[in-house]
Amino acid sequence: MSEKNLKNRDLNYFYNIARNLLEDFYNCDCKPGWICTPEKFGATMGLGAAGQGKTFEANYNTLHQYRLKMNLIKAHHEPEMSTSIFGKDLTIPVMGASVSGVKLSINDIISEDDFYWGLMKGARDFGSIGMVGNTPACPDDLGITVAGRNGGWGIPIIKPHSQEELIKLFQLVEELDVIAVGVDLDGVGSQFWNAHGKPLYRKTEHELRELVDCTEKPVIFKGIMSVEDAVKVADSGASACYVSNHGGRPMDCGQAVADVLPDIAKEISGKIIILADGAVRTGFDVLTVLALGADVVLIGRPLAMMSVVGGVEAVKLYYEYVKDDLRTSMIMTGCDNLQDATMEILVRSR
Ligand SMILES: Cc1cc2nc3c(=O)[nH]c(=O)nc-3n(C[C@H](O)[C@H](O)[C@H](O)COP(=O)(O)O)c2cc1C
Repeated sequence: MSEKNLKNRDLNYFYNIARNLLEDFYNCDCKPGWICTPEKFGATMGLGAAGQGKTFEANYNTLHQYRLKMNLIKAHHEPEMSTSIFGKDLTIPVMGASVSGVKLSINDIISEDDFYWGLMKGARDFGSIGMVGNTPACPDDLGITVAGRNGGWGIPIIKPHSQEELIKLFQLVEELDVIAVGVDLDGVGSQFWNAHGKPLYRKTEHELRELVDCTEKPVIFKGIMSVEDAVKVADSGASACYVSNHGGRPMDCGQAVADVLPDIAKEISGKIIILADGAVRTGFDVLTVLALGADVVLIGRPLAMMSVVGGVEAVKLYYEYVKDDLRTSMIMTGCDNLQDATMEILVRSR
């Protein structure tokens, strides 16, 4: 590639590659909303969602029922967007959601190892932290070892295996001094793991506490979609409660994240860090989810696409894009800092 073309690389450059590489195979419309069409009659879901994709659709549609209120007549301040989590600084309150499965879901385009590297190094270069997931097509410790190679800068989210297996993996997280570790409790419904005959389990409150107690590292429980479960996570001693329905991948006909987040936040805010994802694509979406009660907002599919088509560089560019729009949305809604992002800046339209 010529020097001129290298300079011309921007998000559209990578977006167009993603369109060409992924559009047909995944039935992903790749239009600005980045909504992927649902699984079709048992065929692989690609980047899509389970069943008729109603849970994914609900995430997108409910989030966008909320509108940001403009509030301009006041003293001008540059918005303070930085925050921290688990003792690490974040340039903006945004991290990469745990994604995995290039072989099974993303056309086997690159190795899972390179995919995780793009997500975690791209996040680090920007000033954030990338999470990675756990796929039956690769060793369970892959996310942990790639994070280790990135100076520990990353967060592996592991499937709900047996307690014995999880405790072993948590020990490796400690040995490699990885920032934190999590379990996606909703991964128990994963079609891939079921198809590979690898058992996953629901977990009791006792088992959550056992996992928290077996490590000095911060523990995250992901896949929380009810106040009842959120309270159990807060009581377990975990460091973060991750509100998510996995982008609608395990279960169709589920509730939207934007529908449950405000009630969960009312109950556990201030007691434990609240993470949330679900159809977040822009900095405007980020401000909305912060206002609904999240401390840090996570982005899944777009960063996954960027990592497969452009690695570290494209992932970093996506974070930059989100940052620019977050700044604009804070200025336009009168938010000088992240504490100003409350329900007061939202109006719900139907
Ligand atoms: C292809 C793909 C693979 C995923 N793999 C995992 C995984 O291994 N572990 C996990 O916790 N979540 C996984 N997720 C769910 C994401 O972490 C996240 O919850 C979801 O993508 C958020 O929604 P968004 O894509 O609309 O931003 C995956 C999602 C996709 C699209």
